[in-house]
Amino acid sequence: MQLTRLRGFQDTIAAQARSLAAVEDCARKVVERHNVGEIRIPVLERLELFQHSSGETSDVVEKQMYAFVDRDEAETTLALRPEGTPGVVRAYIEAGMDRSDPEQRFYYVGPMFRRERPQKGRFRQFSQFGVEIFGRADAATDAELMLMIDELRRDLGLELSFEINSLGDGECRPRFRQAVLEYGRAHLAELCEDCRQRLERNPLRLLDCKIDVKLAEAAPKSQDYLCDNCRAHFATVRELLTDAGVPHVVNPRLVRGLDYYSRTTFEVISTAVGAQSAVAAGGRYDGLVESLGGAAVAGTGFAIGIDRLALALDAARFVSRADVALAALGEPAMRRGMKLAAEMRAAGLRVELLSPGRGLKALLRRADKIGARYAVIVGDQELSREVVVLRDLKQSMQREVAQHEIVAELGRLCAEPAIP
Ligand code: HAM
Repeated sequence: MQLTRLRGFQDTIAAQARSLAAVEDCARKVVERHNVGEIRIPVLERLELFQHSSGETSDVVEKQMYAFVDRDEAETTLALRPEGTPGVVRAYIEAGMDRSDPEQRFYYVGPMFRRERPQKGRFRQFSQFGVEIFGRADAATDAELMLMIDELRRDLGLELSFEINSLGDGECRPRFRQAVLEYGRAHLAELCEDCRQRLERNPLRLLDCKIDVKLAEAAPKSQDYLCDNCRAHFATVRELLTDAGVPHVVNPRLVRGLDYYSRTTFEVISTAVGAQSAVAAGGRYDGLVESLGGAAVAGTGFAIGIDRLALALDAARFVSRADVALAALGEPAMRRGMKLAAEMRAAGLRVELLSPGRGLKALLRRADKIGARYAVIVGDQELSREVVVLRDLKQSMQREVAQHEIVAELGRLCAEPAIP
């Protein structure tokens, strides 16, 4: 039996875990300022849901699904969700909101699963923080989504760049699709295996092919095919971004790997992550609610790759240190120590009660290891005199403090910046 983790799956420990939590906390604060409320949806759904939304010819569905047949009578095929959007749309329709109260703003956070080839920043289980907004067809909503990511960038102190594109709508997109299809057919012999295979079913994927880069660059561009409404929508998104001071470039090859997009698409790039540089992505999906059986309601959203964003942050920022290491020497002192530690924690201090039964030297070594600024030592003698020894571990100085004063004293000391 091999007790190792699966390829592409990660154990995230201590500072690394805290950096993920910090990105999540920060993202929650940002989107709540935009009046977006949380939705929690299942990790398992019917495979069909993803086939009908993410798209049967998308890499995600065609090659990367974790799917299995359930042991129920109907032998339903289930899949671990590769992304959050389809589940949120399903939940929205299932709750009847598309008809009763269509304008909704949701965020979600949690694990997604894609059987991709693992590399730095690309995992088989990863976490997304996503936002989906329903019932808003206006360009301001697309711009607002990017503003949320820009606020997160600012709050985390990161440098990110925005790439945007428009894929057109039901009116103009078919013309664009046809142009790319004809272009692909004309260059069939030069296309990579993947592009050739899916050309007839999903020609637009040719544009973001990582192999046929030259062909993709010379392919027809959606900008040249947009109808007047789509052109105006895109121009407004760009103006609003410029007004808000969000620099962005138009990337005509940004067609995205999922099938439901219409009009605006965008990706957010960090140079700090390596080859997997897209830390967030999203766009408009105006036809999706209807195609999954709901009313004709507009939708737009994004998802942030939490793992990638955390990689872009300096993990050293998230190493946490104890304020106090509490060493109780002997059984009666331990009982007093438990109480003191509880009082200190209630005052907001970060306290580790050290293992009893070890010598003072070993305890001080542990205190040093957990980066504690202060050690509080209680032995039999201190107990009978109702004092503790308070040791400043940085300055190697110690003094006695009355037990009833120690919590307040530590509160004062820990509020001051440490002397390096
Ligand atoms: P996506 O581009 O497939 O879009 O994924 C969004 C983000 O998730 C990516 O930019 C990346 O940061 C992260 N991500 C994707 N795959 C992996 C992986 N294997 N390992 C680590 N991170 C990964 C969506 O999923 C859409 N649902 C976004 C959306 C929401 N569009 C509209 N609403």
